[in-house]
Amino acid sequence: MGFFTLRWEDKKLILLDQRKLPLRHELVECKNAESVMESIKDLVVRGAPAIGIAAAFGIVLGSYKLSELPKKKFLEELDNLCKKMISTRPTAVNLKWAVDRLLNKAKNSNGSTLDIIKIIEEEAISIKEEDEQINKKLGEYGSTLVPEKANILTHCNAGSLATSNFGTALGVIRAAVAEGKKVQVFATETRPLLQGARLTTWELMQDNIPVTLITDNMAGWLMAKGNIDMVVVGADRIAANGDTANKIGTYTLSVLAFRHKIPFYIAAPTSTIDISISSGDLIPIEYRNESEVSHFGFYRIAPEGIKILNPAFDVTPSQLITRIITEKGVLAPPFLEAIKNIL
Ligand code: MRU
Repeated sequence: MGFFTLRWEDKKLILLDQRKLPLRHELVECKNAESVMESIKDLVVRGAPAIGIAAAFGIVLGSYKLSELPKKKFLEELDNLCKKMISTRPTAVNLKWAVDRLLNKAKNSNGSTLDIIKIIEEEAISIKEEDEQINKKLGEYGSTLVPEKANILTHCNAGSLATSNFGTALGVIRAAVAEGKKVQVFATETRPLLQGARLTTWELMQDNIPVTLITDNMAGWLMAKGNIDMVVVGADRIAANGDTANKIGTYTLSVLAFRHKIPFYIAAPTSTIDISISSGDLIPIEYRNESEVSHFGFYRIAPEGIKILNPAFDVTPSQLITRIITEKGVLAPPFLEAIKNIL
């Protein structure tokens, strides 16, 4: 693979600027927590696991600035910074999960402020390294669900670009291809921000995995014609009962898949499961700027003054999900039980 999504180098977080892909390959260097928060809000880095990892390094960067403070004050300020970091994008729970992991390490340490900074840096590095291993494991489990010859529909980008490497939904596809299965991917463009058109196609083309781009509204027709064998997508938050928040449009695809009796799979690490939330109704949905809908890139496509809605995610009810693929195995309904058993 000729690119990296994020890299920790010389006490700096280097991000591939995903806003510019596929036309330009540019990097953004973050030297402080503020620039990481801006990068997460602006989607320089995006995808649930990737923003969790970026946020963890953001906390490390922020801790450097607090290093002179007495320990009690340091922990207070670190806690405030964690709250700000978590608020940058509300739906993907991996962000909170990663930040909490660091904060717990910090709070449970008996060491000095400098010791704590070292400990949380090591923790952020572990989160990044573990993520790649988790995706590979999840990919192995998921590929058992892929037929020898398969047309696979995916939505948004749940690939290397959304994780430290390998991806979740695209990890399943990569693992199936590595096993010699003949796979053809259909990538929905994913309005409004075109993560499918810009990122999924680009990423799969780098690996020579056959991919065809379709607009979002073509999926039903392809399913009706028998051209799709399975759907696999990522997740931003999975409630205790299996209801799953993912990129807006995922719910529509799940209804279509149900209608056409096509298996609908969610691929996600267990860090995406939020057992504190009993059902999808309680998942906070991020609403983003209207300009993402009124414009196509920088080009206005809707009248000035038009009323606009821009929810970035939707929730697929667990009844429409065939399996949830995690690094701990493939979960079958009833998901409430299955999730309890692995966590
Ligand atoms: O708004 P984005 O691009 O961060 O949304 C990303 C998605 O919805 C992904 O499908 C999800 O985070 C899973 S990534 C492995």
